[in-house]
Amino acid sequence: MSLYTEITKLPRDPIIGLTELFKNDKRSTKYNLGVGVYLDENGNVPVLKCVTKAAQLLYEKKDPCVYLPMVGFDSFCDATKKLLFGPAHSSNANIITTQALGGTGALRLGAELLQRTKTVPLVVISEPSWENHRNIFESAGFKVNTYPYYDPITNCFLFDQFLTFLKRLPKHTVVILHANCHNPTGIDPSKEEWQEILDTIRKLDLIPFFDLAYQGFKNNVKEDASVLRTYIKFEKPFLVANSFSKNFSLYGERVGALSLFCCSQEESAKIQSHLKNIIRSLYSTPPTYGQKIVGQVLSNEKLYAIWQSEVQQMRTRITETRNQLVKAFEEENLTSFSFIKDQHGMFSYSGLGIIHAAQLREKFGVYILDSGRICIAALNKTNLKYVTNAISAVVHKKKIQAKSI
Ligand code: LMR
Repeated sequence: MSLYTEITKLPRDPIIGLTELFKNDKRSTKYNLGVGVYLDENGNVPVLKCVTKAAQLLYEKKDPCVYLPMVGFDSFCDATKKLLFGPAHSSNANIITTQALGGTGALRLGAELLQRTKTVPLVVISEPSWENHRNIFESAGFKVNTYPYYDPITNCFLFDQFLTFLKRLPKHTVVILHANCHNPTGIDPSKEEWQEILDTIRKLDLIPFFDLAYQGFKNNVKEDASVLRTYIKFEKPFLVANSFSKNFSLYGERVGALSLFCCSQEESAKIQSHLKNIIRSLYSTPPTYGQKIVGQVLSNEKLYAIWQSEVQQMRTRITETRNQLVKAFEEENLTSFSFIKDQHGMFSYSGLGIIHAAQLREKFGVYILDSGRICIAALNKTNLKYVTNAISAVVHKKKIQAKSI
């Protein structure tokens, strides 16, 4: 019997594991529409101009690569606070913002902190939700349930069911909310629905934990943070995990932040000491490069303006691609896909199932998630027709063979 006999093999990760499969696929025609990565019209991960310019400035400064403070540099944290909550809150001492290893790292850091409160009975995530939410909170020792969110028949948000569900939750239940561009469905509550959801959460002393991974991908960076800006007015505890992976195209740098609202300065100091302790035990201090780039762009007027226009370009390309996809489906007599136009963000929740996903992968080298989520941001003029032909073939069960197979 070896040390590891009792450990059983786990299934592949539904998103990153799919990218591993994709990389091992030897076919020349293959498209990864699984992972949420924005690709430009040529199928490349863009290097943003604002990032190149910030990198140049950093290079010229020739800063040594020191250990960062455990919670990250103040300049990065304050700039993030301003971006999330607005200029009036950039030095609000009741908000603690801590650099984190991407959005995932921020969620896990928040989960570890919440575990220390010993007052959280349950964590609830939407049905469906981002594949990693359950994993993160269960790994931190929480019981995770799901709340009704999306009706696959009507492709609509289940507002009434969600509200009824919330009203039955015990105090201090942590409610994971997608601040915009719900992943995977792309369907968000309306402004009025958000108001009622947030009011209910406040009245019932539930703890909202907002996941903001797509700031700027729906309307603009300000509007996309509006739920946070509404909730902060209540002066009640809440958490935010935000990611700069997508909106800065800095996936591998793992830049994100955890922000949380404390009710007093005394509470802030206490919580900050625990965050430092958790960080020190996990990775000691955060990495420097990505946060310096983001911090530089957010605090330099010219670079900020360039960034805004680059985020807008990505957003516009996604919307155009979404419309082209629906049109291409119509040309394939797949008229039932028009609901895709109502979705927001990088993804389209297509309604395709696990069997379709397997057939697309095996027969055509088209990789989508088993849930049917397609990364619209990885489609372009070159692959769109191929992908829609392939989807048409698996939906209509046509015997079309991919050219290169
Ligand atoms: C996604 O949803 O595909 C991205 O957020 C990447 C990830 O870490 O899962």
